[in-house]
Amino acid sequence: MSSRFCHCSFLHLLIGLFIFGSTSAISAHENEDPTIKTMEAFSGYPIHESNSLISDFVSSLSVETQTLQNQIDELSTFSDSPAPSVTRILYSEKDVLARRYIKNLMGLAGLSVREDAVGNIFGRWIGDEPELPPVATGSHIDAIPYSGKYDGVIGVLGAIEAINVLKRSGFKPKRSLEVIMFTSEEPTRFGISCLGSRLLAGIETLANNLKSTVDGQNISFLDAARSAGYANDQDDLSSVFLKKGSYSAFIELHIEQGPILEEEGISIGVVTAIAAPASITVDFEGNGGHAGAALMPTRNDAGLAAAELALAVEKHVLESGSIDTVGTVGILELHPGAINSIPSRSHLEIDTRDIDEKRRNTVIEKTHQSATTIANKRRVKLSEFKIINQDPPALSDKLIIEAAEAASKELNLTYKKMISRAYHDSLFMARISPMGMIFIPCYKGYSHKPEEFSSREDITNGVKVLALALAKLSLN
Ligand SMILES: *[C@@H]1O[C@H](CO)[C@@H](O)[C@H](O)[C@H]1NC(C)=O
Ligand SMILES: *[C@@H]1O[C@H](CO)[C@@H](O)[C@H](O)[C@H]1NC(C)=O
Ligand SMILES: [Zn+2]
Repeated sequence: MSSRFCHCSFLHLLIGLFIFGSTSAISAHENEDPTIKTMEAFSGYPIHESNSLISDFVSSLSVETQTLQNQIDELSTFSDSPAPSVTRILYSEKDVLARRYIKNLMGLAGLSVREDAVGNIFGRWIGDEPELPPVATGSHIDAIPYSGKYDGVIGVLGAIEAINVLKRSGFKPKRSLEVIMFTSEEPTRFGISCLGSRLLAGIETLANNLKSTVDGQNISFLDAARSAGYANDQDDLSSVFLKKGSYSAFIELHIEQGPILEEEGISIGVVTAIAAPASITVDFEGNGGHAGAALMPTRNDAGLAAAELALAVEKHVLESGSIDTVGTVGILELHPGAINSIPSRSHLEIDTRDIDEKRRNTVIEKTHQSATTIANKRRVKLSEFKIINQDPPALSDKLIIEAAEAASKELNLTYKKMISRAYHDSLFMARISPMGMIFIPCYKGYSHKPEEFSSREDITNGVKVLALALAKLSLN
């Protein structure tokens, strides 16, 4: 044990040194860096050997790929739709079984497991300095209807495996390492995305709203949570909130959900920013009428107002001049929805995203102006223009980007810095912790459908980069 301990402490130094390598090198030019001497004295090894020792440590990181694949496959069987599709809805019977499966794996990895009032699950590997804020990683395992088995899952099962990788290598963390399984990243049941991480970030309006939130079957959030064994003692969900600074770093491993890495043949994406969505609902009302009898000059067609607004959204998005601004009208409903009836009501749901909050908010303002103008011109009533959410985008933390880049380099993996255009729990963790993300390629960029796929090799690479980045951050 004692020789193992020495070895571990030495790894601390090596990886710690690597993280601050560039900083020490700069100061060493100005005056001898005293920390290098201390490290040499303490480790008993001359520092010039450190490169080969780092590479020994990096080569010793081995992922049990087959075991991990088996776990991914097994988790996918907790589903309410037939394979290869996966449907796993918050607090359903299958979700509860899947949660049990995750907690069991955390236990087998030697993590101490805790759950909060909404079922965010935390598995902690206690570090040598447990009083320091831990480094966290994690993702979600809920799955929208008829989706695939990799979205989110890679960031939970892969994170538990990353811990196992580090344990097998003999590594001992300084800061504790924590795996988080977030509750309800998908908005399927209660219409709220990233429910668990939003609450962790301390969003009080959400904690209040959840007291009266119901699902499509009129089952309240709290009743649903209780049926899954959560929120037992209290209606007040503020116990879930975490203080800013609870973690020194949060890093999420995820499939890209886009085609770039696969098309360019690159192994790892290091995320520098997460675009943030805003959602808007719009309703127009007109007089409707018979499609034959009402003549064109007399009409006020709520459907045409909606059509015109959909085109206006596209125009305002393109006016931003940036490829990073996007806008989508994903829902356009007409009432009464008959071929021979002029639409008397129309309902649009608009999603717009950007990594630049100001630019995105400009799109929202212009869309609002257009809605008003169109309503006047077409003599319909703009009965609703409601901003459902307007989350700020997040930038990744410099140290976490550097840790992921350094890990990729040391593992001889190609990587590129990129933007996450989909959002993730990381967007909300960024409010309470420095944040970063690691992407791996996925087949044709498919996600949210059964064809979603990442190769074993890509998953293995992602887990290794995560493990090494966690090791570095834990010594930070
Ligand atoms: C939903 O449930 C609540 C309380 O049980 C009840 O008061 C309400 O009428 C229900 N709403 C619908 C639409 O069924
Ligand atoms: C990366 O490549 C270098 C140079 O070819 C080699 O020495 C090193 O062992 C490789 N590292 C890993 C983890 O494969
Ligand atoms: Zn996801």
